[in-house]
Amino acid sequence: MLRISVIGTGYLGATHAAGMAELGFEVLGVDNNPAKAASLSAGRVPFHEPGLPELLAGHVADGRLRFGTSLVEAAEFADVHFLCVGTPPGVNGAADLSQLYSALDGLVPHLTRNCLIVGKSTVPVGTAEALTSRIAELAPDGISVDLAWNPEFLREGHAVYDTLRPNRLVFGVTTPDAEWALRQVYATPIAAGSPVVITNLPTAELIKVSANAFLATKISFINAMAELCDLTGADVTLLADALGHDDRIGRKFLGAGLGYGGGCLPKDVRALIARATELGAGESVEFLRDIDAVNLRRRERVVRETLGLLGGALRPSGRVGILGAAFKPLSDDVRDSPALDVAVQLHAAGVDVTVFDPAATGPARAVAPQLVFAATAAAALHEADVVLHLTEWREFQELDPAFLRTVVRGRVIIDARNTLDPEPWLAAGWDFRALGRLVEPRTAPRVVPVVTPYPTPSVTARDLAAPSPLTRLRARVRRTA
Ligand code: UDX
Repeated sequence: MLRISVIGTGYLGATHAAGMAELGFEVLGVDNNPAKAASLSAGRVPFHEPGLPELLAGHVADGRLRFGTSLVEAAEFADVHFLCVGTPPGVNGAADLSQLYSALDGLVPHLTRNCLIVGKSTVPVGTAEALTSRIAELAPDGISVDLAWNPEFLREGHAVYDTLRPNRLVFGVTTPDAEWALRQVYATPIAAGSPVVITNLPTAELIKVSANAFLATKISFINAMAELCDLTGADVTLLADALGHDDRIGRKFLGAGLGYGGGCLPKDVRALIARATELGAGESVEFLRDIDAVNLRRRERVVRETLGLLGGALRPSGRVGILGAAFKPLSDDVRDSPALDVAVQLHAAGVDVTVFDPAATGPARAVAPQLVFAATAAAALHEADVVLHLTEWREFQELDPAFLRTVVRGRVIIDARNTLDPEPWLAAGWDFRALGRLVEPRTAPRVVPVVTPYPTPSVTARDLAAPSPLTRLRARVRRTA
């Protein structure tokens, strides 16, 4: 059976390593951070991901999975090496590839057997080709090293399922041997029905970034519609439902609200713009700048409305209780989190902000130590003048508005994720506000009338010269009379 190394054991790598062990392989995870490797070796997952602690601890215990810091050990151990290191944003949003290069520099000169290196990190198109040259320079004589690209599509919060049962597998390969090895590695999900797309290296690289750019586009599209809904009394959730019934569109990722965040969508959109610009094709992805701008406007809108409720940006006063800090529920990830960004912006404007998140308090406090964090939702809302619902954790849907009204000072809540049921909040006397969504469906929508309901069609000189259908009809009527 093939032996596997996973290089880089952050979010992606730790999950992939545990997933590979679950699929039956012997796995060595390598990280240059000794503390991370030690924590994983002890079966502890240093981030929040449902199901992962049990999976990882189970396979550390049964000996199929271990972690260390030595790339030399990985070079001697494995037949297939997965590169799962980070590719964070560098200059102008372009991906910083230094971790990929240093992983290869540490691994390839020490290889002792023919092997396959598989890139999983998200990279700008063309990276794999450059890495192929580097591998050729570094590989010991007589050792054949293949490079493949196998992008990862897992979603935080569902990472274990997505790893074991991916909705598609993309193999960017240049040799039949590489395809064979990847088919061995993923034999179980393939047998269970995960479709496989075999392609070349640049297509595989581009599939990943374009998938994330498309998801971002879908979210910003519905958020742009939410802006129009707010102006016209239309309801964006019903609009999304109706669009979603068209299976060419689909309802997923049409959740309007505070917009997207996290370690992937914002970064990948900007990296695609940067790469396309480098390739001289900036115009082809110009629209992505608008996607990014619409997304950031969502945060500004909530900040503006909150400051307005508190008495204006120049004199912000009062307290804001914030529900949510993670970029999405079931995660403690606060990278580019819209929720945390809103909290930080309000605090910077002088507002007294208290935040509660069921999982992300630690990571949020580490990047925003200036904020106050509470241990419960009720504590965060204590004497608040405005309540903001910014991350749609299920527990927030189960809050008791009748109890919370006794805790706050002002009964105003902005549901910036459009996932709370307005009825109990309204019934408990709250001023319930949403983003692009009607909260009092029984009242008539406030429709702003179109200024010129029957706009005058533009008429050209040629139209005037030619007899209109009406003139022709009149002439015929005259003739028959
Ligand atoms: C994303 C991709 O979905 C995944 O395939 C890829 O591997 C990594 O990037 P992830 O970052 O875990 O996954 O989060 P995702 O579930 O895609 O959500 C991204 C952001 O979009 C979140 O902030 C979420 O709140 C927001 N979102 C999602 C919306 O605002 N509306 C929606 O309808 C869906």
